[in-house]
Amino acid sequence: MSDSLPTHRRAWRRTDDHAEGQPKLKLVTERLPLPLAPTNILIKVHAVALNYRDSNIANGGNPWPVTPHGIIGNDAAGEVIAIGDKVNKLKVGDRVAPNTDTENLTGRESSRSWLAADEDGVLADYLVFDQRVLARLPATLDWVNCSILPCAGTTAWSALKGLSIGQSLLIQGTGGVAMFALKLAQAAGYRILLSSSSDAKVEKIQKSFPNTPIHGVNYGTHPDTWHEQVLNLTDGVGVDLVLENGGTGSLVQSVLCTRRGGTVSQVGYLGKQDPMDLKDLVSTIIDRRVNIRGINAGSVNDLNDLTDAVTATNLTFDDIVENVYDFQQAEEAVQRIWEGRQIGKLVLQIT
Ligand SMILES: NC(=O)c1ccc[n+]([C@@H]2O[C@H](COP(=O)([O-])OP(=O)(O)OC[C@H]3O[C@@H](n4cnc5c(N)ncnc54)[C@H](OP(=O)(O)O)[C@@H]3O)[C@@H](O)[C@H]2O)c1
Repeated sequence: MSDSLPTHRRAWRRTDDHAEGQPKLKLVTERLPLPLAPTNILIKVHAVALNYRDSNIANGGNPWPVTPHGIIGNDAAGEVIAIGDKVNKLKVGDRVAPNTDTENLTGRESSRSWLAADEDGVLADYLVFDQRVLARLPATLDWVNCSILPCAGTTAWSALKGLSIGQSLLIQGTGGVAMFALKLAQAAGYRILLSSSSDAKVEKIQKSFPNTPIHGVNYGTHPDTWHEQVLNLTDGVGVDLVLENGGTGSLVQSVLCTRRGGTVSQVGYLGKQDPMDLKDLVSTIIDRRVNIRGINAGSVNDLNDLTDAVTATNLTFDDIVENVYDFQQAEEAVQRIWEGRQIGKLVLQIT
């Protein structure tokens, strides 16, 4: 390895102080794990996209265990700057991202290890990972655009699997995963229904993405009957697939507005989670013969497939990036997501 390579990195670690108004993050400088192990790769990170889970974990709301004071973030885009002497899949200069679940390589592994939860995350200027957890990123995109692919992108990609051109899709909300799904759905030729708590947000999105119609549904003003709006928009049949983001509070309604034999991809848990909401779930699934499948981001293979799809379609994502922050502004960006004020993605750039 060259002498000019870094020996230390800057990283944003959680304070684990969940009291309102207290800093949720702390910038630290720490030694990199060098020399590189034989199959390890040193990455210079150029951009990190934030997700709802970053704010959720930083504020103590994550339902799964997390390592104390871990580095936040699971959506990094970077460049290989050094490789161990047994690396054979990647080379210096390649554009890469670690997969969100570093145990999920093909989709069939039974173990899991999520970045920023079971292990450190990626909001740092340099990272070291084993080559097997790294996927390729599109050469057609800049770093900010690339940073959205590993988590929001791969999650949307996994959630939409199985749909064919012309089939219909309900996307819930206007957050990062939802907006990525909207971009994929427009590129793939699906009929799009979009639910939001805000008519203004839907109108703004309809204007920003005029290529194909986007049918709006307001779950905020019609909390108990929004699924009937979906049925009305699909001739009473229901959509072929729901990208379900609310969790227990919306799942039964999502099944009710999915066509018989259709699919609900359970992605999020944004609403208040209460098992009592699910008392009619089993009978509703049976009645509607609906498949509910859990989405857990995706595998390294999925991320590579998404990279190929983005490259082939020339998709870009500037229109779903709400704001690009400097690396130093991590606390501000995490707070904005916690307040739920963004449309689409917030990205931290590391220059
Ligand atoms: N399973 C996985 O692999 C995976 C991966 C990534 C994320 N997630 C989860 O997926 C969800 C979305 O993540 P994200 O990063 O896209 O979040 P985000 O960017 O913070 O999205 C938030 C948006 O979702 C909408 N929303 C809020 N409460 C809702 C509810 N009860 N029902 C439906 N929509 C609601 C709101 O849109 P409006 O203002 O338009 O109403 C809000 O602006 C989160 O729960 C996240 O933890 C899961």
